[in-house]
Amino acid sequence: MPTNRRILLARRPDGLVTDADFEVVEEPVAPLAEGDALVRVLALSVDPTNRVWMREQDSYLPAIELGAVVRAAGIGTVVESKLDGFATGDLVTGLCGWQDYWTVTADSTANVLPAGLPVEDLLSIYGVTGITAYIGMLDVCELREGDAVVVSGAAGGVGSVAGQIARIKGASRVVGTAGTPEKCKWVVDELGFDACINYRSEAVGERLEELFPDGIDVYFDNVGGPTLDAVLANLAIGARIGLCGAISAYTRSTPLPVYNTPNLVMQRGRMRGFIILDHLDRFPDAVMELVGWVAEGRIKYRVEVVDGLERAPETLNRLFTGEHDGKLVVRVAES
Ligand SMILES: NC(=O)c1ccc[n+]([C@@H]2O[C@H](COP(=O)([O-])OP(=O)(O)OC[C@H]3O[C@@H](n4cnc5c(N)ncnc54)[C@H](OP(=O)(O)O)[C@@H]3O)[C@@H](O)[C@H]2O)c1
Repeated sequence: MPTNRRILLARRPDGLVTDADFEVVEEPVAPLAEGDALVRVLALSVDPTNRVWMREQDSYLPAIELGAVVRAAGIGTVVESKLDGFATGDLVTGLCGWQDYWTVTADSTANVLPAGLPVEDLLSIYGVTGITAYIGMLDVCELREGDAVVVSGAAGGVGSVAGQIARIKGASRVVGTAGTPEKCKWVVDELGFDACINYRSEAVGERLEELFPDGIDVYFDNVGGPTLDAVLANLAIGARIGLCGAISAYTRSTPLPVYNTPNLVMQRGRMRGFIILDHLDRFPDAVMELVGWVAEGRIKYRVEVVDGLERAPETLNRLFTGEHDGKLVVRVAES
C-alpha cells in the first residue's frame, strides 16, 4: 500500500501558524474497506477558513480536533473504489484535508466533478471562491443596476470576482480596497474597478466620502474591522451589506471594534452574513454564468500554485500577510 503523509493539528495556533502547531505523520494507507473509495489528493484549496477551523471555538463547522488531520477542501482522483458512484479515475472534490490520500466513505461529503477543466480552475473561479463571489453579490447583497458598490479584499480570490460581477450586472461605480499599490493597480487597470483604496496607506473613510458623495448602496465585506466601520459611516439609504468574511479577525483572540452600526438605523440599511454551504442549490447557476463570462473575457482571475503538501502551513499564512496574487492552491500531486 502507498504511504500517506498527513499533517495533524498538534495545538491551537496563536496568530500566524508555525511548524510547532502541526505534526507530520507518515503511515501506510489501510486496505480499502467495502463501501469506501481511495482518493489520491491532487490539490488543496488554501482558504482563510482553514485558520478559523483551527481555533478552539466551533464556527459554522466544529473546530478541528487536536490530533486530527487539518481540514481543507481539495480535489483528488479515485485510485480504487468499493463505493457506488465513485469509479477509478473520477475527479472528486470535498473536504479531503492536508494529506496525500483521502478515504471517502458513504458519509463523506464528496462530489464527482466533470472532466476537462483544469484542477486550479475547479478550485478557484468554478469552485467555492468564484461561487461565493457570485452568490454573495447577487443573492445576499441583491445587487441592482445603478448601485454604488464597495468590495474589500478586492485583489483576493473572492473579492476580485465579486467586483467584476457587480460591474457586469450594471453597478454605477465599483471601488475596491486592497493592501498594496500593485494590487490596487491590478484591480483598476486589469479588472476594471473605478478605483481602489490602499487601506494600509490611505484614510479609507475620507476616500469613501470623496468617492461616494451620495453614499454606498452595496458593500461586499471580506475583511471586517476598520474597513467595515468606514463603510458603515458612508451608507446610502437602503444600503445592503453582505458579510462574506472577516479576515482581520481570524488570527486575533478578539475582533477589532466596529462603532458605526447606528448608521444602519439612520439609513434603513441591512447587514447579512452568509455561508456558501447554505446555498448549494445555486451552485449550478453560478458555475454556468461564470463559465460564460470567463469565455467572453469579462471576468479575469489569478491562481497561484504552490508545489508540495508540506508547504500548506506556510502558504496558509500568506493569506494573512497578503503576500500572494489571487487564489492560492497547493499542488499535492501531478494530475
Ligand atoms: N462566507 C463564505 O461562505 C465564504 C466562502 C469563501 C471565502 N469567504 C471569505 O472571503 C474572504 C476572502 O477569501 P479568499 O479566499 O478570497 O482570500 P483572499 O482574499 O484571496 O486572501 C485574503 C486577503 O485578505 C487580505 N487581508 C489579510 N489580512 C487582512 C486584514 N487584517 N485586513 C484587511 N485585509 C486583510 C489580504 O489582502 P491585502 O493584501 O489586500 O490586505 C489577503 O490577500 C475571507 O474573509 C474568507 O473567509 C467566505
